[in-house]
Amino acid sequence: MTTSVTTDPMDSTSSPVTPAAEVLDMDRLSFMLFGHAAFQYLNAACELKLLDLLMERGALTIEEIREELALAERAADILLLGSTALGLTVKESDRYSAAPLISSLNAEGIWQKLKDTVAFEQHIVYEGQADFVDSLRENTNVGLRRIPGDHPDLYHRFSQHPHLESVFYRYMRSWSQLANEHLVAALDLGNATHLLDCGGGDAVNAIALAQHNPGLEVTILEIPASAAVTEKKIAEAGLSDRIRVHPGDMFAERFPSDNDCVLFAHQLVIWTPEENTTLLRKAYKALKPGGRVVIFNSMSNDAGDGPLIAALDSVYFAALPAEGGMIYPWRLYEQCLRDAGFSSAERIAVPGWTPHGIIVATKHVP
Ligand SMILES: C[S@@+](CC[C@H](N)C(=O)[O-])C[C@H]1O[C@@H](n2cnc3c(N)ncnc32)[C@H](O)[C@@H]1O
Repeated sequence: MTTSVTTDPMDSTSSPVTPAAEVLDMDRLSFMLFGHAAFQYLNAACELKLLDLLMERGALTIEEIREELALAERAADILLLGSTALGLTVKESDRYSAAPLISSLNAEGIWQKLKDTVAFEQHIVYEGQADFVDSLRENTNVGLRRIPGDHPDLYHRFSQHPHLESVFYRYMRSWSQLANEHLVAALDLGNATHLLDCGGGDAVNAIALAQHNPGLEVTILEIPASAAVTEKKIAEAGLSDRIRVHPGDMFAERFPSDNDCVLFAHQLVIWTPEENTTLLRKAYKALKPGGRVVIFNSMSNDAGDGPLIAALDSVYFAALPAEGGMIYPWRLYEQCLRDAGFSSAERIAVPGWTPHGIIVATKHVP
């Protein structure tokens, strides 16, 4: 397989050259030791709306914060101790304000997306990660036992837990939107008429692609239990005439044929390499000659030493969604693509702090 790589030289996270692994010092080790507590402060600052309050009202005293958040004295002392020690809030004389980074993320519209991600980590991911060791030992998603239901994957359990379902799809929309402008920019779909979006979630990527490419029609393959969420967002975007939902299981269903493009967005991180190859083989069959399959999700380095967010996010994929999955290295997808019949692939690194990447592979023209 020939592979070409497109990277942003200004962005160290997107470098194809493996960065040196972090050197462990006592600060880093102690941060790991209490990492779960650091996250709880972040979650509390979000759920109790401490940071939103400070951004709305400016610097406040602890008494004013206590009153606004209806917290007892000791509770406010703990919250402000943690948020300030972690740098989420800044204390000047006796007043607290939100960290400049939080304010600038808010001004850019990114803060809400981060809060959606924090809620997902707190309400869906957190408990199940306590089963990480057993998940590694048994090489399966032991942590899913924390979310009641019979189905062996997380997605089929959401319809029994409406709160978790809405937390999940809010997060998924936000996580996609943190990077999908790069997907839209990287994919020239000017001449494409049909795209199949496998496991399209609430249609966040299908909508972005359809809005950018007026000649494009999209079919979203999504499990029947989640198809109503998908339909609702398509209707809200006014795109029901160009995006349709095909309810079904992508492993069991035959893919609709004659597509210019088949998209797997945040999908091939969930399954085993063998399952990924099966899905890519189905995509190959469903493409017109010259059509492209696109893999859009977080990627880890080929050397297996980072980036850090890819490593941390892999704990979730080991413990919860399905039997096998992780933030795989680029090279693993290239191997799956080869095994599925594709002969060339292009890597497109996405700039920014999330470890998103894009792989585009083309079906051979006879
Ligand atoms: C991680 S989410 C990604 C959603 C969307 N592609 C995005 O990037 O925002 C995975 C989606 O795949 C769907 N899914 C999981 N298993 C599936 C299956 N067997 N057939 C069809 N869809 C599936 C889930 O319901 C969920 O909406």
